[in-house]
Amino acid sequence: MNQILKCWAVVPAAGVGKRMQADRPKQYLPLAGKTVIEHTLSRLLGSGAFVKVAVAISVEDPYWPELDISKHPDVITAPGGKERADSVLSALKSLQGLAGEDDWVLVHDAARPCLTAADIHLQIDSMKDDAVGGILALSSHDTLKHVDGDTITATIDRKHVWRALTPQMFKYGMLRDALQQTEGNPAVTDEASALEILGFKPRIVEGRPDNIKITRPDDLALAQFYMEQQT
Ligand code: C5P
Repeated sequence: MNQILKCWAVVPAAGVGKRMQADRPKQYLPLAGKTVIEHTLSRLLGSGAFVKVAVAISVEDPYWPELDISKHPDVITAPGGKERADSVLSALKSLQGLAGEDDWVLVHDAARPCLTAADIHLQIDSMKDDAVGGILALSSHDTLKHVDGDTITATIDRKHVWRALTPQMFKYGMLRDALQQTEGNPAVTDEASALEILGFKPRIVEGRPDNIKITRPDDLALAQFYMEQQT
């Protein structure tokens, strides 16, 4: 049977971003003429890959309603949660009745504004026939050390260590159930880890190194540089 591929985007955007030391959450900081989250959402919407984009926003967030993109017809707002996983689960619930159990969901951090349409399509094309799905990831160019305090205890074979990026692409029903079953587990720091804990084996596909997460003040200048290079 020929099934139509349906993809939905989920954007956790309810964090405060303490490491930025800014007067507002990092997704609302200015970057190349817009806020960080406007870039992120424009890239998701502009990729043409998604039916809708569900965004988890803190209920006390005064910045979101001020942005035109919050009223975009393809954007759904859901209440954020205590941890990132709670925010993702809340956004998934806002798609209940719209998304089918076997539709794909791509979860992407609001704080990664340099995502390219090329990476979105690469991920969907390479994972759409998978039973589980997986994530964009980056290999390490540096030698990696296991350290205790400031003492090296081992050198890690970097073939086996990858940095987890987003989007993270899973089936709607499977991801919702996995996040519900692992609720409150501190080991769940991304979507893949929730599935791993339940015994599933998500895959990786190598993403672009410019898909950085805005975490520290210097990252804004780096993101601006990458955006200029991309155009
Ligand atoms: O803090 P960190 O950079 O790891 O957050 C990753 C993403 O998760 C950010 O886009 C942030 O807004 C989101 N987040 C969330 N709800 C939380 C904590 C983080 O949506 N409670």
